[in-house]
Amino acid sequence: FSLKPYNTFGIEVKARYFATFENVAELQQLLQHPEIKNAEKLILGGGSNVLFTRNFEGAVLKNNIKGISLIDQNEDYAFVKAGSGEVWHEMVLFCIEHGLAGVENLSLIPGTVGAAPLQNIGAYGVELKDVFESLEAVNVESGQVETFNKNACDFGYRESYFKKAGKGKYIIVSVTLKLRKKPEFNTSYGDIQKTLAAMEITDLNLKAISEAVCAIRKSKLPDPAVIGNAGSFFKNPEVDKSVFESLKKLYPEMPGYVVSETKIKVPAGWLIEQLGWKGKQIDNYGVHKNQALVLVNYGGAEGNKIKALAHDIIASVKEKFGIELSPEVNIH
Ligand code: EPU
Repeated sequence: FSLKPYNTFGIEVKARYFATFENVAELQQLLQHPEIKNAEKLILGGGSNVLFTRNFEGAVLKNNIKGISLIDQNEDYAFVKAGSGEVWHEMVLFCIEHGLAGVENLSLIPGTVGAAPLQNIGAYGVELKDVFESLEAVNVESGQVETFNKNACDFGYRESYFKKAGKGKYIIVSVTLKLRKKPEFNTSYGDIQKTLAAMEITDLNLKAISEAVCAIRKSKLPDPAVIGNAGSFFKNPEVDKSVFESLKKLYPEMPGYVVSETKIKVPAGWLIEQLGWKGKQIDNYGVHKNQALVLVNYGGAEGNKIKALAHDIIASVKEKFGIELSPEVNIH
């Protein structure tokens, strides 16, 4: 079964078993199926954060659980719940249409609702955890639905319990967000301010911020429907303040954002660009010309080649700056 249509990198690999599920009961049934029960399992949402490097000998389960609704509200907050197979941006649009604030900066992030907590998606100064209320997940072992609050998800930068100790143990089936009824806009990010100014927005509102974010993303990030990619391939590394300060003496232009008293986050895109990788094309794959953090498949590339390119980039950044990059996408 070809997985090419199910991964935004557009890599041609095959899975031994493939099935879709539309609701929790169907998922529970699939997990009981003898061929699937003992096989290695991979849950696919939008397939926008995975690089396949080999055929998958197990079962790929494609999540099609849909539905978005306003389930509860009080004076200050509203709670919106969505099926994990919904397209993430549809949930964002639902919130904006209902005048609910908190996810507008996360507009147009590829992928599904279920993948959002998995890697604590983030952009333009906001992370999923900032609006997260709870999620429901099916325990693969028992088949039971369990509820996880924010604490239980153990969110970190592009990290959660479901990528660490809980890896492979749960399948997320719904996500509930807690959104503000009275918006507090986050336009701290320079690109957003510039874009809003260019749009001549005087009366700030959710829709305008969402449109600004969409415009920035479209200008920097390749559309997976046109050029295969999985967004940022690497995480932005955090380095000790002392390390950053000595690097800054050598490279005064090096950007960095304070994350704590002792740690500075360095944009990996900058490091990669300094080494001349940005826009580099090798056969039918390479590094995106507008964003050095994004690796691209121009069509027909093998996942292994892209993985090897990622290793070359990691090695060269390590050699020059002494900083070890780590991939953000899941490599299979
Ligand atoms: N930069 C360069 N060259 C590049 C790219 C970036 O010099 O080719 C430097 C610039 O100094 C720029 C800074 O990096 O000011 C930040 O760049 P950008 O705003 O494009 O963001 P990023 O740090 O490269 C992160 C997230 C993105 C998210 C953007 C916006 C990670 C791994 N990536 O990228 O998330 O959209 O911020 O908030 O944290 C994703 O995770 O897939 C993703 C796209």
